[in-house]
Amino acid sequence: MPRNVAVLIAVGAVLVAIAGAEDPYRFFTWNVTYGDIYPLGVRQQGILINGQFPGPDIHSVTNDNLIINVFNSLPEPFLISWNGIQQRRNSFEDGVYGTTCPIPPGKNFTYILQVKDQIGSFYYFPSLAFHKAAGGFGGIRILSRPRIPVPFDEPAGDFTVLIGDWYKANHTTLRRVLDAGHRIPFPAGILINGRGPGGASFTVEQGKTYRLRISNVGLQNSLNFRIQNHKMKLVEVEGTHTVQQTYSSLDVHLGQSYSVLFTADQPGQDYYIVVSSRFTTPILTTTGVLHYSNSAGQVSGPIPGGPTIQVDWSLNQARSIRTNLTASGPRPNPQGSYHYGMINTSRTIILQSSSGQVNGMQRYGINSVSFKPADTPLKLADYFNIGGVFRVGSISDRPTGGGLYEDTSVMGADFRAYVEIVFENPSNIVLSYHIDGYQFFVVGMDGGQWTQASRNGYNLRDGVARSTIQVYPKSWSAIYVALDNVGMWNVRTEYWARQYLGEQFYLRVYTNSGSIRDEFPIPKNARLCGRAAGRHTRPL
Ligand SMILES: *[C@@H]1O[C@H](CO)[C@@H](O)[C@H](O)[C@H]1NC(C)=O
Ligand SMILES: *[C@@H]1O[C@H](CO)[C@@H](O)[C@H](O)[C@H]1NC(C)=O
Ligand SMILES: *[C@@H]1O[C@H](CO)[C@@H](O)[C@H](O)[C@H]1NC(C)=O
Ligand SMILES: *[C@@H]1O[C@H](CO)[C@@H](O)[C@H](O)[C@H]1NC(C)=O
Ligand SMILES: *[C@@H]1O[C@H](CO)[C@@H](O)[C@H](O)[C@H]1NC(C)=O
Repeated sequence: MPRNVAVLIAVGAVLVAIAGAEDPYRFFTWNVTYGDIYPLGVRQQGILINGQFPGPDIHSVTNDNLIINVFNSLPEPFLISWNGIQQRRNSFEDGVYGTTCPIPPGKNFTYILQVKDQIGSFYYFPSLAFHKAAGGFGGIRILSRPRIPVPFDEPAGDFTVLIGDWYKANHTTLRRVLDAGHRIPFPAGILINGRGPGGASFTVEQGKTYRLRISNVGLQNSLNFRIQNHKMKLVEVEGTHTVQQTYSSLDVHLGQSYSVLFTADQPGQDYYIVVSSRFTTPILTTTGVLHYSNSAGQVSGPIPGGPTIQVDWSLNQARSIRTNLTASGPRPNPQGSYHYGMINTSRTIILQSSSGQVNGMQRYGINSVSFKPADTPLKLADYFNIGGVFRVGSISDRPTGGGLYEDTSVMGADFRAYVEIVFENPSNIVLSYHIDGYQFFVVGMDGGQWTQASRNGYNLRDGVARSTIQVYPKSWSAIYVALDNVGMWNVRTEYWARQYLGEQFYLRVYTNSGSIRDEFPIPKNARLCGRAAGRHTRPL
């Protein structure tokens, strides 16, 4: 029996009961290993998936079931998480510390995901132990179903472009610095699809139009993306079709994904693709190559410059990114049919980034709580009613002004509440935040302190729905989110050292209905660990 069929039968009972069993299945078998990579010219141990760095792309269509069997051949526990994939009713598959037991060395775990009601560009990444600094990430694309209109012509080609800052030091070395309570140094360079300067190349035919799906998979820097002599038309942001505007360069903050179209409308030669760090001194820059198939010559001329430390430029660009209200999304109706701005919010949550020392060690947090993992994944403790693992309400709805302390922070929220969340960044660097399990509406961002009067400037009409939002230095960003997905959801900064040192918490979206219409039961194949070890995923 082929392996795929075996897996299908093993998980079949659960799928028939819960997932859209009529929707297509796609099967993946991934082997995660260490292997030598040389992105910046020195040998490093990278995390490879099926021998690849970055890992293979996942291509899917709205509502597909993705059955991904991950074999952990690293000598340490490992988990993959899925940035922007909503895991509807199914936080067990989210692949972060608080929802899913790590895959032990030498073992495997089969993720059962459904990309329900989603389109767009996303990525996956290793969520534990600062593994992200070693690779293990890759692109995810969700295409529209055949009869759903897409607001632009099918491009001649569609490329995943994973950009991110990179260290020459390996992840164990970086982790040791963080574990000792220190900050890690400035990154050594920037990679495009795992390649250093001059390494990444994209071949195009003159006159044709291409799509690039650009994600910032790096650790700490906002990046600016541009193509020499070519303009880009923004068409999609994390699952939302945008008003199609033209940009000569685009800021991509940590954890964010953008799709652009560009036409190869220049004389036949090679052009620089440039990625540079934003808001840093020094500025890191790397290049790739846009290669015309009829190219008469190599890249030439100065590397085109871009914005460097200007925050206003970035803020203005962010405000110009809006939803095309008449375009379809995952369903054939206009994206503007959900009038997010007409619904009254029932709760306001203000989340302020915190930084400080706890017991002489550098830590970060939100509303003065620095997240501390417990001995059992929170979702499993919740499911099996194991007490003493976490306490709902261990993080406040408002900044407390008190000193930073550690706790296993979990915020409670009601299923179907409609919530306003304001992120406040008192630091002098750009931060970005991601909420698992959700797409939220970006209603505003500005410098200074958020006040109730800030609401007067909200965009309540055509802000984009996305899952990762930047917050500029000494600024705020505000979102509206409909809490329509029951589960235990990670809220984190995408600034990876700060995430690792506690700038995250879990949002427990709860209903007491007990119905599988609201939340799926624990997967049959779930690994059980900590105090959940030895429990049964099904009644005996
Ligand atoms: C994973 O790759 C390693 C190294 O190539 C190999 O030894 C191992 O057998 C592979 N495991 C699986 C499950 O394919
Ligand atoms: C990381 O680098 C350190 C120091 O160079 C080395 O001792 C260690 O084996 C490396 N670890 C991995 C996983 O590559
Ligand atoms: C591990 O892989 C095997 C097939 O190779 C599969 O039958 C089994 O269900 C997988 N284990 C888990 C926990 O998913
Ligand atoms: C918005 O979407 C509609 C419907 O697909 C399309 O015709 C129109 O060109 C788009 N407008 C902009 C400004 O992107
Ligand atoms: C929202 O709140 C305002 C002011 O309290 C009220 O007038 C309005 O009817 C509410 N709208 C909805 C849709 O509930």
